[in-house]
Amino acid sequence: NNFCIIMAGGVGSRFWPLSRSSRPKQFLDILGTGRTLIQQTYDRYSSIIPPENFLVVTSVSYKDLVLEQLPELNEKQVLLEPLRRNTAPCVAYAAYKVKTSNPQANLIVAPSDHLILKEEEFIRQVQNGLEFVKDRDALVTLGIKPSRPETGYGYIQVKKKVKFNNLDNLHKVKTFTEKPDSEMARIFLESGEFFWNSGIFIWSLPSILAAFDTYLSDISKLFAKGLKLYNTEDEVHFINKTYSECQGISIDYGIMEKAANVFVLTADFGWSDLGTWSSLYDNKEKDKEKNVINGENILTYDTSNCIINLSDEKVAVLQGLDGYIVAESNDTLMICRKEDEQQIKQFVTDVRIQK
Ligand code: GDD
Ligand code: MG
Repeated sequence: NNFCIIMAGGVGSRFWPLSRSSRPKQFLDILGTGRTLIQQTYDRYSSIIPPENFLVVTSVSYKDLVLEQLPELNEKQVLLEPLRRNTAPCVAYAAYKVKTSNPQANLIVAPSDHLILKEEEFIRQVQNGLEFVKDRDALVTLGIKPSRPETGYGYIQVKKKVKFNNLDNLHKVKTFTEKPDSEMARIFLESGEFFWNSGIFIWSLPSILAAFDTYLSDISKLFAKGLKLYNTEDEVHFINKTYSECQGISIDYGIMEKAANVFVLTADFGWSDLGTWSSLYDNKEKDKEKNVINGENILTYDTSNCIINLSDEKVAVLQGLDGYIVAESNDTLMICRKEDEQQIKQFVTDVRIQK
């Protein structure tokens, strides 16, 4: 009765130019492990979720990529979005779809672009979460101890510990703040009362649908109208219309910040969000000069603290660089200071305008 919903419709623009809208980072093997990030996501949950209980929600343009990379799934398990509307509609679509066959299901909602090093510990926590939500109205997220005042995450302030099955890491949530500004992030970090939201959620289908009804009722009304159309030939038409009428909002802003029944399981399972070049740099082995180099024909001189990602086809010589990202893909080369990587989103926009 447990389902895993993989959200895989993001474009990963902070990972440009490696991540392109034609093949975003979840479909890339950016760690060089032989499995792409979405494949690693599938692998991680496959020990507790049978293949037929996975759903992937993604853009219609990534349908073939998903089916190619996850041959375990059949076409019906890939839910296609005609437009990008962020994660709340994505969760609503999947939840209503599961409701047609399994109204009492428990859901794991998983991003498709994270790294998790300690898989056993991770799965143990997911199972704790599933156990907790199965007969109570609770929205559970997995929380990570923060290590820097990152502004790209949600911050969770915990209230008291909740007694359940001898767990000592389950807390009632006091506040949830999605993507604070840097001053707030610093205050949160220093207070020691906050955890990062990992973006991995666990809840029962009735609980998340009730939360939609309360906090995002316009979205739930739209999707509920289709209950009889899901799994028929009219589903595509219905979904296209629904997405065009639906607001774009993330599940974090739309529900997690507002709901009163949020709980967090805090744990250390070697989590990182491979959101940026720096996060990839942090997670890869470095050479003597603290460079992370990906590419067969790269020569470096007096170059350190760089992440270099170049094709094998030509020889590259780099001299005198410290703390740079050097990355290319097909027709694009980017050289950017690591500390200025938040500008990459702007580069993507500018390049698109120029072309
Ligand atoms: N299907 C679909 N449609 N998936 C989407 C969409 C969409 O429109 N937008 C994003 N996704 C997918 C992404 O591919 C990713 O796997 C996941 O949903 C999360 O989206 P992100 O865009 O990466 O979110 P974020 O990183 O800014 O913030 C979330 O994750 C942080 C941790 O990594 C939030 O949950 C934060 O609170 C959290 O700290
Ligand atoms: Mg992310």
